[in-house]
Amino acid sequence: MKNTIKTDNSSKKILLIGANGFLGTNILQISTKYEKNFQHFKFLAGDIENTNITPDVPFYYINITKKENIMNIISKISPEIVILTSAMTNVDQNEINKELSKKINTEGPKNVLKACSKINAKLVFISTDFIFDGISKNGNYNENDIPNPLNHYGKTKYEAEKTIINSEIDYLICRTAVLYGWNKYKLDFITWILNKLHNKENISVVTSQINNATFIKNLAEILLKLIDKDARGIYHTAGDGALSRYEMAIKCAEIFNYDKNLITPVEYIEQKAIRPKNAGLDISKLKRLIGSELKVLNLADGLEYMKRTSDG
Ligand SMILES: NC(=O)c1ccc[n+]([C@@H]2O[C@H](COP(=O)([O-])OP(=O)(O)OC[C@H]3O[C@@H](n4cnc5c(N)ncnc54)[C@H](OP(=O)(O)O)[C@@H]3O)[C@@H](O)[C@H]2O)c1
Repeated sequence: MKNTIKTDNSSKKILLIGANGFLGTNILQISTKYEKNFQHFKFLAGDIENTNITPDVPFYYINITKKENIMNIISKISPEIVILTSAMTNVDQNEINKELSKKINTEGPKNVLKACSKINAKLVFISTDFIFDGISKNGNYNENDIPNPLNHYGKTKYEAEKTIINSEIDYLICRTAVLYGWNKYKLDFITWILNKLHNKENISVVTSQINNATFIKNLAEILLKLIDKDARGIYHTAGDGALSRYEMAIKCAEIFNYDKNLITPVEYIEQKAIRPKNAGLDISKLKRLIGSELKVLNLADGLEYMKRTSDG
């Protein structure tokens, strides 16, 4: 039987590990923006470095590969919920440095899981559409489909998922894909496209890789909503609708009024790690739970939002 935590909403301490990263930063921003909705959450931030956490959020140096460091800090803070967004996220780097990738993406979550188990905290783990092979089905993967990762990144994330699922702890696994949004620290796939098109540079974009592009602010809000509802198990939490990378680039040009002729469709590009062909995620389970309260944005919605704002 799974352990359960208290389910009332009287002030819950949430430790966000990976708070410095793209998703972590946006979770903290959304929790502040919609403070009224989430005032029963008290956020604490953890990461290997602190470059952009605002001083009002207590920060802890956490390296998830260090078992004792994790155990000590989590035991000391004793949060009700731990959100783990930390990972080695560069898919090709995972292929190049497999040992480090396993250490961060599989062993790291195991260490966090053990610490959560000790204090009976719920673990919210962020996973990926790359756990699917993209050929066993023509996209539309739902939460019951059997994963079969093709690349090392997908394998390490799936190993972590299995350990969590087979544990006794209370968990929520959220699988997402192709995160995008304004980010002053690094470019993602969509901001890379926008940047190239803005500079009138020609780009070649693959037609053979299909995923759900996910607007980061929308994902952050979705995750907080799921936590608020005490959702458990696996959820596909990605943007509404899967598109090929080429179709995504065309959508960027259309919405930002850039020249579509700069974009050349190509069937294949050389990449270190194999990508699944059609890893499109079925998000109907998510929509059933939160759809009446929060819209899951498609790529056009997210790009329109970005066009209206440049607040990062
Ligand atoms: N980005 C995507 O398109 C995408 C798609 C599907 C799923 N996901 C999943 O979504 C989650 C969030 O992704 P993201 O884009 O926000 O990633 P990110 O920006 O790379 O953030 C990850 C954070 O984890 C930190 N980290 C790395 N090693 C660590 C360690 N040993 N201990 C503690 N922290 C460590 C990183 O610090 P440094 O920067 O200093 O290394 C960084 O702050 C990840 O779990 C990822 O697998 C992402």
